[in-house]
Amino acid sequence: MATSAFSDDRAGEAGRPVRRVGADLCGIGDLDDAEIATLLGRALAVADLPHLPEVLCGRQILAAFAEPSTRTRMSFQAAARRLGATVLTFDGGAATSASKGESPLDALRNLDAMGFDAIVVRDRREQWASRLTELLSARVINAGDGISEHPTQALLDAATIIEARGRRADAGPEALVGVRIAICGDILHSRVAGSGLRLLPRLGASVVVAGPPGLVDPERLPDAVDYAESLDAALVGADVVMMLRIQRERLPASLELPDDASYHARWGLTQRRLETAADDAIVLHPGPMNRGVEISDTVADGPRSRILRQARLGVAVRMAVLARACGRLHHLPTSPASSITGPDGL
Ligand code: NCD
Repeated sequence: MATSAFSDDRAGEAGRPVRRVGADLCGIGDLDDAEIATLLGRALAVADLPHLPEVLCGRQILAAFAEPSTRTRMSFQAAARRLGATVLTFDGGAATSASKGESPLDALRNLDAMGFDAIVVRDRREQWASRLTELLSARVINAGDGISEHPTQALLDAATIIEARGRRADAGPEALVGVRIAICGDILHSRVAGSGLRLLPRLGASVVVAGPPGLVDPERLPDAVDYAESLDAALVGADVVMMLRIQRERLPASLELPDDASYHARWGLTQRRLETAADDAIVLHPGPMNRGVEISDTVADGPRSRILRQARLGVAVRMAVLARACGRLHHLPTSPASSITGPDGL
């Protein structure tokens, strides 16, 4: 039975809001291995189902995106609607009380007081989502905070790889054993990399990163992640190649980068370069792509590309994450699709 969105709005001791049932997702560290397996399994189970039970009927979701977004915002909205939730959006832009001097925090606390079950947030501030968990009654889902984390992107990347490699989502830390993943481009300023480098090694993958000076810092990589000095070196034997956009909006003004053509010549994924990866290597990109910079048209639109499948599985992952946020994850269907067997299925 759906809980009314307004049924548990009580201020806790010292004015702290009473948290709703369910769970926050601010970063990959919020998930234990079993939860990761369950989220990935349920997401892959529901991804291609034409009809889904409305397990979030009566729930209210707020999408509060203070940074530009196409895929992630629409994906969360589509996911919430497919599960029967009501979705409202807030962008803190010129048409809102931000133009009257209200702080983003005051705006969000007032919106929270209206009674949302989960608030999906994107913001340029680091750790913004975690901070909100202390102040809001709704469960908080991080849709990207500065250069820190973007956990649902990492989960959808993992789901795409598990599916493409014919692995089992429920294999936990074994799910991607033996899979070599090259992540290339702007690692340092990418929250996609921030979450991916936390998640993919936990699934057993061997991960290597490569990118130009100023966009990768080998000293700041997790122990489980290798560093390659060139894109060509990272590609050798890779089963998965994930290309990342230069996050120009976050770069220090002092950082000098090559022009687009020079960058592409050295760091762009071309068809010729892709041939040095494994024969059945797949290509991922979280979007937005800068064609002719980090990736060529031929690769982006080629047979190895799983970029549009990422978008599809993104909706499925966000259905699972929203259901978890509302305490309803185990109401999502399970199906044999969560234990796909394929060419190298475990
Ligand atoms: C990413 C983001 O916003 O961090 N995009 C996304 O969510 N699909 C990557 C990017 O902006 O380059």
